[in-house]
Amino acid sequence: MKIVVLSGAGISAESGLPTFRGAGGLWNGVRAETLATPEAFADDPQRVLDFYNFRRAMVRDAEPNAAHRAVAALEQRHQVTVVTQNVDNLHERAGSTDVLHVHGEIMTARSSRTPSLKLAMQDRDIRLGDLAEDGAQLRPDVVWFGETVRHIDDSLDRIRAADRFLVVGTSLQVWPVADWVHHAVNAGERVIVAPELARCPDGFDWLRGNACEHVPRVAERWLDA
Ligand code: APR
Repeated sequence: MKIVVLSGAGISAESGLPTFRGAGGLWNGVRAETLATPEAFADDPQRVLDFYNFRRAMVRDAEPNAAHRAVAALEQRHQVTVVTQNVDNLHERAGSTDVLHVHGEIMTARSSRTPSLKLAMQDRDIRLGDLAEDGAQLRPDVVWFGETVRHIDDSLDRIRAADRFLVVGTSLQVWPVADWVHHAVNAGERVIVAPELARCPDGFDWLRGNACEHVPRVAERWLDA
């Protein structure tokens, strides 16, 4: 079977990484425009670099959880694509091999002038004065508000072709990804896992609760399918 898993910050919550909205969210009490936009970086690059260095250190210290591992285990029998809004690398560290980071990757830096000039940042901070090969300041290789979301065509192709579609840990508040849940037209089963949802998308079974509780069970059932 072709399986697509669409994940958001909630799948990494039980690994200790904060979500953006809801309790303890990164955007609580902070205007995202002051930290996650090209304008914020131009206005105060040190503040933005500090924010991502802080988050990158948390990712380094975090471990994949049972939900990440269950998603990876599905590859034993099925063709699995993970379409993730997350910039952490926990899906890959759990063993997933086909991960589309539609909002970029925090463990990578790139030139602030030439997006294709990238640099792995596994164990380092990005400091003011760290320059790419083109002489421009390095920045996190993440998609800020107002920038182009990545892998749109690939993500939609995989979702449209999916036999099973699992959506986990996303509030579906950010476009265009929020709209992608309506494209799984061939899926025999559509499941969404979250403790709370503003509205359950049509045609989805909502498993109300945490990723580590529900995703392993769904994966176990799909492994036997
Ligand atoms: N298990 C499953 N879901 C959880 C858990 C958990 N343990 N804890 C929280 N959640 C759910 C919340 O109920 C919420 O629905 O995860 C979701 C997290 O939503 P957001 O914080 O909005 O994160 P996300 O949907 O990934 O945000 C999308 O917004 O700011 C941008 O670029 C950022 O990629 C991010 C995008």
